[in-house]
Amino acid sequence: MKITVIGTGYVGLVTGACLAEYGNDVLCLDLDQRKIDILRAGGIPIYEPGLDDVVARNVEAGRLRFSTDIEESVAHGTVQFIAVGTPPGEDGSADLQYVTAAARNVGKYMTDYKVVVDKSTVPVGTAEKVADAIREELARRGVDVPFGVVSNPEFLKEGAAVADFMRPDRIVVGAEDERAIRIMRSIYQPFQRNHERMLVMDIRSAELTKYAANAMLATRISFMNELANLAEKLGADIELVRKGIGSDPRIGYSFLYPGCGYGGSCFPKDVKALRRTATEYGMDLQVLGAVEAVNDLQKERLLQKVVDRFGEDLRGRRFALWGLAFKPRTDDMREAPSLVIIDGLLSRGATVCAFDPVAMQEARHTLGDRIDYSVSPMGTLTDADALLIVTEWKEFQCPDFERIAATLKQPVVLDGRNLYDPAMVREYGIDYDAIGRR
Ligand SMILES: NC(=O)c1ccc[n+]([C@@H]2O[C@H](COP(=O)([O-])OP(=O)(O)OC[C@H]3O[C@@H](n4cnc5c(N)ncnc54)[C@H](O)[C@@H]3O)[C@@H](O)[C@H]2O)c1
Repeated sequence: MKITVIGTGYVGLVTGACLAEYGNDVLCLDLDQRKIDILRAGGIPIYEPGLDDVVARNVEAGRLRFSTDIEESVAHGTVQFIAVGTPPGEDGSADLQYVTAAARNVGKYMTDYKVVVDKSTVPVGTAEKVADAIREELARRGVDVPFGVVSNPEFLKEGAAVADFMRPDRIVVGAEDERAIRIMRSIYQPFQRNHERMLVMDIRSAELTKYAANAMLATRISFMNELANLAEKLGADIELVRKGIGSDPRIGYSFLYPGCGYGGSCFPKDVKALRRTATEYGMDLQVLGAVEAVNDLQKERLLQKVVDRFGEDLRGRRFALWGLAFKPRTDDMREAPSLVIIDGLLSRGATVCAFDPVAMQEARHTLGDRIDYSVSPMGTLTDADALLIVTEWKEFQCPDFERIAATLKQPVVLDGRNLYDPAMVREYGIDYDAIGRR
């Protein structure tokens, strides 16, 4: 199958590479010349474990190419996956300018049947807007070329994106056009060999499914964060409570970890966009309003713990920070709790020295010289008044506590990810505080 992927970011590049892996002839388009140059030179513009191998293998085999040429990319694929960004607009709604621009480009140049697939996370009703944009461009050209629009939201997780794409829990396809459904089935057939994973539904339900999934996950996180804060007041340990409720199969263990708030390029904007959609239809999604409010507060939780210990005036203080990415196994810092924490520390006069295993380049790009950087976790500790743990990278799980205690100016560890056994850490003379723990 000839496939074009429009937008070669986290989702587009993984989609393109994984579809090429099964023998499809894939062209990935992006308007960012820098990204395409990196890819053409054999590099990968993002950090995503395992992606470099899949990309290299398929480029080598001639099944995966990269381009900035819109006309060429429209001509290439019978199927045109739109995987461009849908950032939040000022009112919280998803900004659809990149999606409609991509659709217009298809309409401007298509000469034969196309299936246009919305893979970006887009509000209910977007497929209709995409179809309208294509129709307008065709009308402008005075031609009538058939096409189908499909909603195929993506559920991959950064950090495990290749595995998620290759072994999806489900493949949601919203479509009304039989020909388009047949084509989608044949594309996804290799991804569901041992049992059917494709859920074909109407387009609006497919669009809503993606938001519902992210909103549910964000809700679990905020729920646990709020309970963790209560546990602190009650003298209970949220880690024990987590195990106590996770063992109930109706609840399950996933996404029950309290911490310093959710971030990333999806949950914050998707929760906002779903609330905004509801508002447009005269509804106030009260649960999600609370989910957002709790998350905003939770991103300040570690900061609050710093202020409780050291006071509002942090001039002359220095803090070590482990973890900048919004979660482990990614370099993505969009809406990361680290940014809120760093802002709060700097605005109170403190200095910060940070380390992240993969997000250092991204951090330099985002934060510049507002903070100092260390090439190792231990290197952040020199002259620091406390260590703040912000991202649960594997390599932070078993550190040398003796060295931490000896290097910090005062042995204070504030753990936003509950990585350690409090009693064990305290044996090293460390004043240890985490989220919702005794
Ligand atoms: N990142 C994730 O984990 C994830 C997971 C599931 C769904 N999504 C959704 O997928 C979509 C893409 O997310 P992402 O994280 O991959 O974004 P991204 O910012 O990494 O990539 C988007 C790319 O699209 C390019 N682009 C913009 N307009 C274009 C156009 N008209 N033609 C060609 N290229 C264009 C940009 O230059 C950019 O490289 C979003 O809607 C997001 O919500 C993301």
